Amino acid sequence: MDYYASIFLLTELLMLAMILHVAGYSGFTRGQKAWYLATFLSVAFCAAAEFIALRTEYRPSRALFLTIITVLQFSGVPLLGVLFSGALGIHHRGRFVAAFFAVNLLAETVAACFGWVFRFDDAGYSRGPLFFVIYGILDVISMAYLIRNMILVGRRFRHKDTRTIAMVLVVLIAGIVPMAVFRVNITYLAIAISATLCYIYFNDLMQQDSQEDLFLKQQRITDMQTQMVFGMANLIESRDLETGQHIARTGLYVKLLAEKAKADGVYSDQLTDRFISLLTMLAPLHDIGKILVPDRILQKPARLTDEEYEAMKRHAAEGGRVVRKVMFGLTDEDYVSFAADIAKFHHERWDGSGYPEGRKGEEIPLAARIMAIADVFDALVSERCYKEPFSFDEAVEILRTEAGRQFDPELVRVFLEHKKDFLS
Ligand SMILES: [Fe+2]
Repeated sequence: MDYYASIFLLTELLMLAMILHVAGYSGFTRGQKAWYLATFLSVAFCAAAEFIALRTEYRPSRALFLTIITVLQFSGVPLLGVLFSGALGIHHRGRFVAAFFAVNLLAETVAACFGWVFRFDDAGYSRGPLFFVIYGILDVISMAYLIRNMILVGRRFRHKDTRTIAMVLVVLIAGIVPMAVFRVNITYLAIAISATLCYIYFNDLMQQDSQEDLFLKQQRITDMQTQMVFGMANLIESRDLETGQHIARTGLYVKLLAEKAKADGVYSDQLTDRFISLLTMLAPLHDIGKILVPDRILQKPARLTDEEYEAMKRHAAEGGRVVRKVMFGLTDEDYVSFAADIAKFHHERWDGSGYPEGRKGEEIPLAARIMAIADVFDALVSERCYKEPFSFDEAVEILRTEAGRQFDPELVRVFLEHKKDFLS
């Protein structure tokens, strides 16, 4: 097999690969698929036309066939820019462009029939006197349109990489320049490579844009979740007159405690950035179960009776259920479980004497263990309708005594280490 036949075969195989890929690719609309297939089929056709024209031995009876096939392949190249633009949804001045290419094709065909642009005779193929006028002017205009369209298409994307566009153009020009100089050339291989590079490049840009759109959508969902959490927290606040500031302060305490623990290497494998941000965001929901506690108990300005206290205790288990019920199907399971754990287990005790399940030690989710310390610490230093506030030092002392009994001793150690940060 000779050199040119190998180049031709390579071009056809590359285009066949792209056609098969595009045909089987599920990320395109039907229209896009058709435009891309038309682009790659055109390159394959132009390469085949050139190969046939060069390899067909001239006979007077074949003159018209050779003329037409050559006109088609020469006119086919500038058309690729239009086809590619179609694949990317750009139909800039479509009618004007269609008219231009129709006139171009007609002019080339007429000129070719008279032997003005190229001639087929016993000497084979030769250029006619108008060759450079036809291809030098008309096709340069077409090429300019192709390049302009590529830039126009490139600008549509948020992520632009001009180096890749330059690379595609270099390959294209490197293939087209020899076309004007050599009869046997690598024009169509260059065009095939450029078309493939364009495809990869533009497809990549489209993917990047759609990923960004996806990210923005997720961001919106997260914003909605946050709004929902704050809406629910406000609901608790409106019921329990004293928990308003408590909700805001405990949110700050859990964040501080988690960050300090992470910095000190305590549970640092669990305390990822996502964990801390979820904890901070969802902490306001810890007492969500209180919406099911009757007003007379929730707002009683005195100590609760045993029976009332039992009713109050139910807010933990109920909280877990409320969170799951309200958030079910609205957000991912991770998020719901995290919120439910905080609401359900924030009254568990390290020694197993807490409620609702009497879980012990690390059986209690870490988020709830952190929440427990923040919750109690804030309750201690705050004034309640049934008690005076403890001083900061007294509250710290209580936490120290309760380490290993009510609270996770490791977390209390972190709290004591950084207690000054909790003072403000
Ligand atoms: Fe609670």
